[in-house]
Amino acid sequence: MMQFDKILAILRWFRNQMLFYIHIPFCDSKCYYCAFNSYVDKFHLKDNFIEALKKQIIFEIQRYKIQKNSIETLYIGGGTPSTICPLKLKEIIDLIKPNFDKNIQISIEANPNSASLKWLKGVKSLGVNRISFGVQSFDDKKLKFLGRNHTSVIARLGIENAKKVGFENISIDLIYGTSLDTKQSLKKELEEIDKLDINHISLYSLTLEENTKFFEKSEVANDNLANAKFLISQIQKRGFEWYEISNFGKNSYSEHNLGYWRYKDYVGAGAGAVGFLKDRRFYSENSIEKYIKNPTFVTEEVLSKDDMKFEKLFLGFRSIVGVNKNILNQNELKKIKILLDEKKIMEKDNRYFNKDFLLADELALFIMNS
Ligand SMILES: C[S@@+](CC[C@H](N)C(=O)[O-])C[C@H]1O[C@@H](n2cnc3c(N)ncnc32)[C@H](O)[C@@H]1O
Ligand code: SF4
Repeated sequence: MMQFDKILAILRWFRNQMLFYIHIPFCDSKCYYCAFNSYVDKFHLKDNFIEALKKQIIFEIQRYKIQKNSIETLYIGGGTPSTICPLKLKEIIDLIKPNFDKNIQISIEANPNSASLKWLKGVKSLGVNRISFGVQSFDDKKLKFLGRNHTSVIARLGIENAKKVGFENISIDLIYGTSLDTKQSLKKELEEIDKLDINHISLYSLTLEENTKFFEKSEVANDNLANAKFLISQIQKRGFEWYEISNFGKNSYSEHNLGYWRYKDYVGAGAGAVGFLKDRRFYSENSIEKYIKNPTFVTEEVLSKDDMKFEKLFLGFRSIVGVNKNILNQNELKKIKILLDEKKIMEKDNRYFNKDFLLADELALFIMNS
């Protein structure tokens, strides 16, 4: 019998199904750790940016030959989408709406500082059915240390308001691995999680990125494996499934991110957005000014078969997606056999699944290095 995932892949191919990502490159303030493409001093360009974004969306719908009912997920990320009023977001969503699958998951990222009750009501009425708050921590001292512009009280209020206006899928981003973290402080964060009505957590280990305040300040980080394991096990104990190295859901996934890890095609629109089709990545201009001048311009990167295999290995072992046997050569399958014998991975329906996502990169490198 044909495997279920093969049937799905064929159906998807016929219907040309894909994901849609929109990047909003504005933030109210710049957090000390963040290298995402976002600007705090370009708000005067907002209207022009939205007009440019609309042009790109119309262009991409044609370029990707998007058909009716074929958009499985829409993800509005950034930067900070809650800096854009619902009326403007409506203009953007309306352009893509005719192509929505009937079960589409529409996610939006929000900073608690700008996600007011009015904004939340507005985006809910547009059909957005999943919201992801950048919370980072419930400890005000840690929030200040990270350069966040809100307190824990505001974060909690945002989450409660989202529930009030009817959001059933609520996610929070948390950051750990800072020099302020102790087992005690992490226990307190978990106690705060217990008080929340949320069904998804993204848990990120602090990375020190170039072009951020934290870059080359190793003293701000504390990459402690024991703390990571403690947090992961405690979140799992609370009924959240660990489905990707940084993501946990209670009967709920970020379908959009799962789509990335499954290597699906995606449109990327907005300054700094990335798109993907078959074996090509498309990078829009990072600069808002350049983007406004030429919103349909993209730099193209062609991926080799090996590039794609490498990515599929990393993404597959970092998540419940797993790795398809058919992409591996004889030599790589010999390595797989070693990992199976050592019980580091398991096999099901011609796919290999990693049991401990923290080991994902190690496993992928072991297989790829001849
Ligand atoms: C686009 S932001 C989320 C929405 C909104 N901009 C906010 O911050 O409230 C994406 C998330 O990436 C995570 N992140 C960004 N840079 C990071 C870094 N250097 N280390 C760890 N996590 C990071 C943060 O948890 C952040 O919430
Ligand atoms: S973490 Fe979010 S709010 Fe902070 S700078 Fe990055 S995108 Fe902006």
